[in-house]
Amino acid sequence: MKMTIREAVVEDIELIVKYENEYFHNFTTISKIEEEINNPLIHIYMLVNKGVLGYVNLWIDDDKAQINSLVILKELRNKGYGFRFFNFLFRKLDELRVKEITLEVRPSNLAAMKLYEKCGFNQVAVRKNYYNNGEDALLMYKRLGSD
Ligand SMILES: CC(C)(COP(=O)(O)OP(=O)(O)OC[C@H]1O[C@@H](n2cnc3c(N)ncnc32)[C@H](O)[C@@H]1OP(=O)(O)O)[C@@H](O)C(=O)NCCC(=O)NCCS
Repeated sequence: MKMTIREAVVEDIELIVKYENEYFHNFTTISKIEEEINNPLIHIYMLVNKGVLGYVNLWIDDDKAQINSLVILKELRNKGYGFRFFNFLFRKLDELRVKEITLEVRPSNLAAMKLYEKCGFNQVAVRKNYYNNGEDALLMYKRLGSD
C-alpha cells in the first residue's frame, strides 16, 4: 500500500496516547485526544502505509499552523519517514492555504533539530526555561507557499 497521510480517527487514539505519554511526558488521556480529534482548530494527521508509521498534531488557525507534537514510531526512525511526512504535510497545508508554520524543539533533540533544518525551518527565537527540566525551547519557523 502506498504511503499517505489521513486525519486521525477513533481507532488511532490508543496509539497516540501511548506515544504522547512516552515521549512528551505531558500526561494525556483517551478522552483528551478524543476532544482534540473533534476540535476544529486541531488536526492530527497519521502517516500510514499498511499500518501507522507516525503522527503529527497541529493547531491550524486561518493561515497559521503550529506543530504540537510529531512522532515516528520508534522502530521506524532514522529511515527518512519524518522527512517524507513533512512533504505530505506541506502539500496538505498548502491546500488549506496555510502560509506559516512554527514549532518548538529542545536543542538536545538532535534527530528533530536535523529533520526541521532539513525541511527548511529556521530558528527565530529562544524560549528560556521552557520545559519542565529547565531546558530552553528553540522556536522554529517556516514560510509556506510562494507569496
Ligand atoms: C524526531 C523524529 C520525528 C524524526 O523522524 P525520523 O523519521 O527519524 O527522521 P528522518 O529519518 O526523516 O531523518 C531526518 C534527518 O535527521 C537525521 N536524524 C534522524 N535521526 C537522527 C538521530 N538520532 N541523530 C542525528 N540525526 C538524526 C537523519 O540523518 C536525517 O538527516 P540526513 O538526511 O541529513 O541524514 C523521530 O526521531 C521521533 O519520532 N522522535 C521522538 C519524538 C520527538 O522527539 N518528536 C519531535 C519533538 S519536537
